[in-house]
This record gives sequence, C-alpha cells and structure tokens, in this order.
Amino acid sequence: MLAALAAARGRALLLCALLSQLGPCSGNSELSTAVNITWSSINFKTILQWQPKPTNYVYTVEISGINSNWEKVCVHTKETECDVTDKLEKVKDTYTAHIVSEMISGTEKFEEPSYAISPKFTPYNQTTIGRPGIQTYELTDSKLKVLVEDPLIPYRFPNKSFKSIREIFKNDLEYTLYYWKDQSTGKKEATTKSNQFEISIDKGKNYCFYVQAIILSRRENRKSQKSKVNCTSHEREVLDEYGTEVFIIIAAAAIVILITIIGLSVILYKCKKTKAAKEKETMPLNDI
Ligand SMILES: *[C@@H]1O[C@H](CO)[C@@H](O)[C@H](O)[C@H]1NC(C)=O
Ligand SMILES: *[C@@H]1O[C@H](CO)[C@@H](O)[C@H](O)[C@H]1NC(C)=O
Ligand SMILES: *[C@@H]1O[C@H](CO)[C@@H](O)[C@H](O)[C@H]1NC(C)=O
Ligand SMILES: *[C@@H]1O[C@H](CO)[C@@H](O)[C@H](O)[C@H]1NC(C)=O
Repeated sequence: MLAALAAARGRALLLCALLSQLGPCSGNSELSTAVNITWSSINFKTILQWQPKPTNYVYTVEISGINSNWEKVCVHTKETECDVTDKLEKVKDTYTAHIVSEMISGTEKFEEPSYAISPKFTPYNQTTIGRPGIQTYELTDSKLKVLVEDPLIPYRFPNKSFKSIREIFKNDLEYTLYYWKDQSTGKKEATTKSNQFEISIDKGKNYCFYVQAIILSRRENRKSQKSKVNCTSHEREVLDEYGTEVFIIIAAAAIVILITIIGLSVILYKCKKTKAAKEKETMPLNDI
C-alpha cells in the first residue's frame, strides 16, 4: 500500500518536473502559485518577492545553486517575501528558487507540491552596489585627497566582522571620483583601484565631488549608487574673515576716540587761551 503510494507519488513528481519546464506546476487547484517573482538585492543582501498574498495556504521557498541541493528557507510563511541572503554566500553561483504553495492541513504529505520557478540570479553579476562612503577628505595647497569607504556586505570574516565589497570583487572593483570647481559645471573625473584619490587642483579654489564604484567585469549594472556630494571649504575664510571684521571695528572705534580726544583738547586749549587774554585786557594798569 505504502510502496504503491510512494511509486505513484514518484511518477507524479516526475511528471510535475517535466511540466514545470513549461510553466508553474499545479498539483492542487485550490492553491495559487506565486507570480511576479523578483530578486531585490543590494550589497549582497537579497530578498525574494512574489505575489499574491496567501489566503488559506502557506508558502515555502526552496533554493539551489547550479550544482547544489535544494534548501528550504522561510518554511510555511504567510508573507510574500523571503530574505535568502544566507543561502547565496557562494556569490558567483547562479541560483534558482521554487516558491512552493502548500495547504496548512496535515494531508499535505500526499498532495503534489505546487510551485512557481523564479528567474535565475547570480549575486556577483546582479546585486546592486550601494552608495560608497567618504571616510575623509583633505584639501592642501594644490591637492585634493579623498579616502573612500567600501560598502559593507552581510557576510562575515571568521572573526565576525563584516566583509566589504572589496573582499568579493578584489581587482574587479574600481572607483571613479567626479569633481568640479565650486559654482562651475565642468565636471572632471579620476579613477583608482585603491580607496584613495589624490588629484591636482587650482590653488585657493573650493571643489565639490562624489564617488561611484564600478564593477569592471559587468556588462550591465556596472555602476554603484552615487555617494553624497561633499564640498571643500577653506577654514581660513570662516575664522579670519570674522577676525578681520572685529579688528576693523576696534581700529575704527579707536580712531574715533582719538579724534574726539584731540578735538576736545584743542577746543579746551583755545577756550583757556581766550579766557586768559580777556583777563589780561581787563587787568588794572596800576597793578604792573
Ligand atoms: C503581476 O505584475 C503585473 C504587472 O506588474 C500586475 O498587473 C499584476 O497584477 C501582478 N500580479 C499580482 C498577482 O499581483
Ligand atoms: C560629506 O557630506 C555629507 C553631507 O552631504 C556629510 O554628512 C558628511 O559628513 C561629509 N563627509 C565628510 C568626510 O566630511
Ligand atoms: C577580522 O579579520 C579581517 C581579515 O582577516 C581583518 O581585515 C579585520 O580587521 C578583522 N577585524 C577585527 C575586528 O579584528
Ligand atoms: C557574469 O558576468 C560575466 C561578465 O559579464 C560573464 O562572463 C558571466 O557569464 C556572468 N555569469 C553569469 C552566471 O551570468
């Protein structure tokens, strides 16, 4: 009895596998199979999404690389998305997922699985590279130095610290710096395989810039998101301008005070002199 069931199930599965090459394989008409399956992936964090919301059933995701076994993730979920990041650590492998629709009842064991097949996904070629950070930048006399921070990814070193995209892409990773003189539109660019830019610039001018990572081996999706725009500013201007103003005000005040004092003393002196002269005139002659 059991053997017969198993054999029947085996045949049904085989038929199912054959049919699935043509489209979603449905073993139970009450279940909806997933549609609109998409991979959404940034810096190797990858979420599988699909439709529709389940009503009286649940989904289980099964995932496999080209030569690996099927592994289950998000078992019996009522959601329409699943974080599959942990299953894609071999980033150069090409993965396929099955979104299996299952009844919640105990009879599911003898029902044929009904599933939809996802598009293929290769993390190394397809994950979007997120916005790189600007660790520091420095404007010296005639040079602009910019230190870029590699975006981190969810995979870790044995010591538990997060790896960055550099550990994955190695020599395949390049950064481009786009820079322009403040208030001008002429954009220039420089590239580096390291994390550091050092470019020659016009003395005394301020510059704005952003960086973008590039994956050289890719044909599509080569460029990362852009970093935020940063602009340099000569600190001297901020502090010294303020200092100069204060100095000018103090000097002006001092000059005004000085002029007032001189003016006053001249007036006083003249007054005294006139008074003295008047006294002389009115002096009785017989006093001499
Ligand atoms: C699948 O996507 C199409 C186009 O974006 C949309 O019209 C359709 O409603 C989606 N299906 C489901 C079940 O959401
Ligand atoms: C770059 O500019 C952003 C805002 O656009 C700011 O948050 C960030 O601190 C700046 N980076 C540096 C290194 O100053
Ligand atoms: C962990 O190991 C990596 C590579 O071996 C190293 O680059 C990183 O600095 C280490 N992190 C810590 C916190 O020790
Ligand atoms: C990834 O991209 C490289 C370069 O474009 C290509 O040679 C390779 O076949 C791609 N891999 C997959 C699995 O698509």
